[in-house]
Amino acid sequence: MPSPWPDSLILAPLTKGGNLPFRRLCVDFGAVVTMSEMAFAGPLVRGFRKELALLRKGPTEPCFGVQLAASKPETAIPAARAALERGAAFIDLNAGCPIPEAVHKGMGAYLLDRPRHLERILQEMTRALEAPVTVKLRSGFKDSRINVMETSRLAEEAGVAGIVVHGRTREQRYTRAADWDLVGQVVKARKVPVAGNGDILTWYEARDRLTQSGAAGLMLGRGALIKPWLFQEIHEGRELALSASQRVAVYRRLAGYFREHFGEDEHGRQRSVDFLGWHFAFFHRYRPLPAEEWLERSREHPLLQTRLDPVPTEDPLEMVLACPATSIHRRIAEILLLSGDDGEAEERLVELACELPPRGESPGRTEDQAGG
Ligand SMILES: Cc1cc2nc3c(=O)[nH]c(=O)nc-3n(C[C@H](O)[C@H](O)[C@H](O)COP(=O)(O)O)c2cc1C
Repeated sequence: MPSPWPDSLILAPLTKGGNLPFRRLCVDFGAVVTMSEMAFAGPLVRGFRKELALLRKGPTEPCFGVQLAASKPETAIPAARAALERGAAFIDLNAGCPIPEAVHKGMGAYLLDRPRHLERILQEMTRALEAPVTVKLRSGFKDSRINVMETSRLAEEAGVAGIVVHGRTREQRYTRAADWDLVGQVVKARKVPVAGNGDILTWYEARDRLTQSGAAGLMLGRGALIKPWLFQEIHEGRELALSASQRVAVYRRLAGYFREHFGEDEHGRQRSVDFLGWHFAFFHRYRPLPAEEWLERSREHPLLQTRLDPVPTEDPLEMVLACPATSIHRRIAEILLLSGDDGEAEERLVELACELPPRGESPGRTEDQAGG
């Protein structure tokens, strides 16, 4: 069976973050394989509009996969058909989502502890569907129950076309570095393509993880949320080192995509502010990480998992873009959405520097959310 992924980089399924305008921006920077936010199969089958909206593919997305949360084939299959009718290239079953809303309903990471049930869902999906089916696994539910060798074997036997391994347990959330040796063991044991996931923030970490694991692909989550141009950096094997002005242009482009997507009326504008502001919980974490300075450190511990202080700067634009406060993120979003051009946006952002809260004040939100 051919690989479900026509490129080695996969944009991770990201609830809220993996919205259509953001995916469009990633495609601009060379993402070929993109994925939907996790969609619940039950509400999809019942025709809930909010859930169905998650299946919408952008016209520029070359290979768009839809990720489903399902507890049984009876809902997974019709939900997958709804996604395929709307242009999905492959269907991914989530077997890693840690949030109680999924786990308590027998979905997501719950399936890791029920390998035979996971196998049955996947088997029925692969038999019933014309399109490739993939599965996104965590290494296990708990640190004491790491079983990805077993779950990946059963998934392969069930006929999946690809497996993504996020090298952390449900219990670990983001507290530890992803285990890429374990990803490598799965790659070795399986015939189907295996992609690894966890902690990739720079082109050199991407290269190192591919070499270390032999994986067929890499899935990018928070790294892409922090810098959507990561796809281009990895494809070209170099850091783009965008200036603050260049980053403002990128963020403004995203603002334009949100405006097109949500519309110009008051309701649409509020949604654009909400989403774009949300993205700054990740964008503000950007800092340059030249290989000459950071490669060795990245080999000791992944840079995404390392507390990286912002680069000290007196440049007001850099200070605004690096501000962790949620209230400022909303103000930035409003400015980006309302400015007529990049120059005006920059000017108004610089003015905002006078209103920044003193350093060390609580940001009011943590960025890394539940995640699967
Ligand atoms: C904001 C956010 C939303 C996420 N939503 C999903 C999701 O809907 N489905 C899923 O399988 N994983 C989800 N994840 C987990 C990511 O897909 C990925 O597995 C995880 O972040 C590890 O990759 P990273 O270290 O590159 O971020 C989410 C992660 C984040 C940060």
